[in-house]
Amino acid sequence: MIYLDNAASSHPKPPTVHRAVAEALELGANPGRSGHGRALEAARRIHGAREAVARLVGVADPARIVFTLNGTHALNLALKGLLRPGDHVVTTVMEHNSVLRPLAGLERRGVEVTRVPADREGRVRMADIEAALRPRTRLVALVHASNVSGTLLPAAEVGRLCRRKGVVFLLDAAQTAGAAPIDVEEMGCHLLAAPGHKGLLGPQGTGVLYVHPDLALDPLLEGGTGTRSEAPAMPVEMPEALEAGTLNTPGIVGLGAGVEHLLARGVDRVRRQEEEILTWLLPELARVPGLVLYGPADPAERVAVVSFNLEGHDGAHVGFALDEHYGIAVRVGLHCAPLAHRALGSFPAGSVRASFGPFSTHKDAEALVRALHEIART
Ligand SMILES: Cc1ncc(COP(=O)(O)O)c(C=O)c1O
Repeated sequence: MIYLDNAASSHPKPPTVHRAVAEALELGANPGRSGHGRALEAARRIHGAREAVARLVGVADPARIVFTLNGTHALNLALKGLLRPGDHVVTTVMEHNSVLRPLAGLERRGVEVTRVPADREGRVRMADIEAALRPRTRLVALVHASNVSGTLLPAAEVGRLCRRKGVVFLLDAAQTAGAAPIDVEEMGCHLLAAPGHKGLLGPQGTGVLYVHPDLALDPLLEGGTGTRSEAPAMPVEMPEALEAGTLNTPGIVGLGAGVEHLLARGVDRVRRQEEEILTWLLPELARVPGLVLYGPADPAERVAVVSFNLEGHDGAHVGFALDEHYGIAVRVGLHCAPLAHRALGSFPAGSVRASFGPFSTHKDAEALVRALHEIART
């Protein structure tokens, strides 16, 4: 099977991830709760994972990395933990529903939201973001790369703008963490949300949120932390302040192993490899009769998430044929980003999406192109 659905969840995971999960299951104990050796070892391994994630995204203090259940949980924690009625938020039409829906809910509770438009390639203009800022703007929430068109948005420029204007900057790195170099200091990020199960190569059921030292978010969940148990309220110390309840130890330890793999290999090398695939693939796709490609033609402007449609062919049929007859796994539909499809011109049908990962090869891209030529002829 050729797995081209890495934007949904990455596959395969490095063998070290499998081993780390199995060892954590065998260890069994609850980190940070008991004083026996196994519990201390579980806590040590969780801390190792926190340190690895911090190193990957340029965070000096690992305590500012919060473990969550997925990217959606991290984004909800950032948005609902920060925003209050009367606040104004600037975001874009390229966002995933895990930003659009919590913001729609917050809007019903008195938060104001401006959604900046995008062009037909999914690009957002800095001038539009800057023009959308108001005196009451508390936050800019930006997706780093679209999960539909792969378009990279100007994260570092938005970070500089936010710093200049005293606005909090939340970056949704769901499609870039592990696939493109990220440094929260250089990019001026106050909040960085990412799933653990995509480019970071961890198991499903994991995600991370970086919280800048100047920010104190309200927790989404309150409960046991294993610390300050006499107090009626949640502790203020990080990361416990935002991590109520027993952690997903096997998942987090597996995520740590995924991130260690990336640190050893180098995210810049993963990025170069994916750019090489795109450099060959994009012009080849454009040669498939009737194929409409979304997103920028220049690989430097995008990640290896490639959406397209074949004129005269239903997307669901193309996805089914790729799976059934060619053993190629892709995703079809709206990819939980309806406004992005409106901008790209693919709403309401959606698109067929092939997404590459660190273990994808040139041969995978060739197989996809060959299969699409055959499907286009049917
Ligand atoms: C851009 C973007 N943001 C957020 C998410 C949500 O991540 P998760 O599926 O881990 O909740 C996704 C998942 O596809 C995504 O692509």
